[in-house]
Amino acid sequence: MRILLTGGTGYIGSHTAITLSSAGHEVVLLDNLCNSQIDVVARIEKILGKKIVFYQADVRDTDALIAILQTEKIDAVIHLAGLKAVGESWQKPIDYYACNVGGSISLASAMKVAGVRILVFSSSATVYGDPKYLPYDEEHPTSPTNPYGRNKLQVEQLLHDLANSSDEWCITCLRYFNPVGAHESGLIGENPNGIPNNLMPVVAQVATGRLPLLNIYGNDYETIDGTGMRDYIHVMDLAEGHLTAIEWIAKNNGCHYFNLGSGTSHSVLELVSEFEKASGKTIPRKVISRREGDLPNYYAQADKALRLLHWKTSRNLSDMCESTWRWEQQRLA
Ligand SMILES: NC(=O)c1ccc[n+]([C@@H]2O[C@H](COP(=O)([O-])OP(=O)(O)OC[C@H]3O[C@@H](n4cnc5c(N)ncnc54)[C@H](O)[C@@H]3O)[C@@H](O)[C@H]2O)c1
Repeated sequence: MRILLTGGTGYIGSHTAITLSSAGHEVVLLDNLCNSQIDVVARIEKILGKKIVFYQADVRDTDALIAILQTEKIDAVIHLAGLKAVGESWQKPIDYYACNVGGSISLASAMKVAGVRILVFSSSATVYGDPKYLPYDEEHPTSPTNPYGRNKLQVEQLLHDLANSSDEWCITCLRYFNPVGAHESGLIGENPNGIPNNLMPVVAQVATGRLPLLNIYGNDYETIDGTGMRDYIHVMDLAEGHLTAIEWIAKNNGCHYFNLGSGTSHSVLELVSEFEKASGKTIPRKVISRREGDLPNYYAQADKALRLLHWKTSRNLSDMCESTWRWEQQRLA
């Protein structure tokens, strides 16, 4: 298939482009570069050993999208473009709704005009909100607790209604858990602007000395060691999840939801300890008070993806830390 990746130079998009291309699909990348750099294109090309097509464009520009979909003869779209920082979504709700919800409406409109009906949407486990039970399965009630999560849920609802409006639509919403790690080459990885929000990039930057120490938000949760636990998923496993999802949805219609997670969770201290092993560095840390809104623990039930997509994770916490460390060293070199 000829697949357009919106947000294609971002963290997950760049890794997904490599997996799709390596599996024989043709990829076209689109990004407005608000949270990624143009040199990612050359890095992807280096890994793949071939040229790829890139458009600098905004997903809210419906006319530009229609032109790209038609000129490039696109068969399917993976929609990753969006703003993703939960904390920032409280401060800039208009930007978040305009980009995440508005951008998705624009994309769906362009696809309708251009006759493209296959879509994979980057959703998030944040749509579930506080757990009524664990692990979260796809039937768990959705009740997001922040503007970012509400954006994701609203787009899922739009796509559900779209698929109901006509049998032609083939849509999957992938609810990612906590993507970490990097491509094994060390050429691409997560490249957050400013001070990162997520644990793994902070740990990596503490290891290189760019940040002085790791703040641990609470060690009195009811978890194995008192620190918060998350379902970390290697970004290359996630990329393979997109490959299986797009190949599956191309043969099915309707709107479908899949958790993409490992089905298990690791604590902050487990991750830090594994990172220390991978890097040979000591990570200075300080325990401070809990952060409002943080959950003690959550993880996916990933059986549906296994059953229908024949996908499951194959990389462990050690792979996640080693690849992150390789990327972190490489990008400082
Ligand atoms: N990384 C995570 O922890 C995580 C978890 C769950 C879901 N997601 C979702 O996955 C998607 C990709 O996340 P990521 O981690 O790769 O983030 P990222 O910021 O690295 O990538 C997103 C890309 O979208 C681009 N972009 C943003 N707004 C745009 C617009 N209006 N038009 C065109 N391009 C635009 C950015 O420049 C960036 O390159 C996002 O939709 C995010 O919400 C991410």
